[in-house]
Amino acid sequence: MLYVDGKWVEADELSVHPEDRGYNFGDGIYEVVRIYKGNIYQWEGHLTRLIRSAREIQLELPWTAEELSTIAHELLAKNNITSDDDATLYIQVTRGIAPRVHDIPSNIRPVIMGFVRRKERPLADMKKGITAQIIEDIRWLRCDIKTLNLLGAVLVKQYAKDAGAQDSILHRNGIVTECSAANLFVVKDNELYTHPANHLILNGITRLDVIALAKSNGFTVHEEPFTVDFLKQADEVFSTGTTVEVMPIISVDGQAVGTGQIGPVVKKLQELFEENII
Ligand code: PDD
Repeated sequence: MLYVDGKWVEADELSVHPEDRGYNFGDGIYEVVRIYKGNIYQWEGHLTRLIRSAREIQLELPWTAEELSTIAHELLAKNNITSDDDATLYIQVTRGIAPRVHDIPSNIRPVIMGFVRRKERPLADMKKGITAQIIEDIRWLRCDIKTLNLLGAVLVKQYAKDAGAQDSILHRNGIVTECSAANLFVVKDNELYTHPANHLILNGITRLDVIALAKSNGFTVHEEPFTVDFLKQADEVFSTGTTVEVMPIISVDGQAVGTGQIGPVVKKLQELFEENII
């Protein structure tokens, strides 16, 4: 069952208004949240980011944080998610419905929609690693906002797939930013490097978890820009995100990363992450 604009409906009962601004402009925000064994993982972090995204696009949410939390938990209950289930929770808010003009209409009422989908963890890929292709970051300059406007992300992922890789690693003028739907880390001499959380990346909930876990286990983490050349000399490369967790990247542009095997630092971080989610 989906939650749409105050009602519980089945997917085939749902219709989208032709002038919903989410549909016309991608004018809205969203979160993808992980459910591990029936429990919502890092809900507070996702909720805080949803509220921030709304503020950054001048969308006034008519729901309190408590009401949004209730909707999220009811989605689990209505879909019979139990402690046997791993799943994802998707929640989006569009600006609402109004005759199509580019500026923001006054007195517009946001439309909320949420659903849950049972989904296995990406354990096989986490064990063997994935391949990536370096692609120019063609997205806009507010990647810190989790907006529905994802055409840049769609295209860069497709360019990577067209080149025979599983994901894209994005760069702007030679500086590595992140992946199409995940953050990126490299390991050099046992220290971690990742792009700082500014307007050029989404500050991932998993990214923040991994930084905290790494630091509390004695690793130095540099949140600073680094180049594609630096990445190509790295000992290990991995991405983080709600859907990929801690994902080793074992080849970039067809060249092996480090030894071409999953490295010890990423293995350690996977173990720490595993302990954190259960
Ligand atoms: N994407 N960077 C981008 C561009 C993302 O879209 C995402 C998540 C992340 C990782 O953030 P988090 O750890 O909070 O999931 C980083 C979601 C999963 C998606 O759009 O499907």
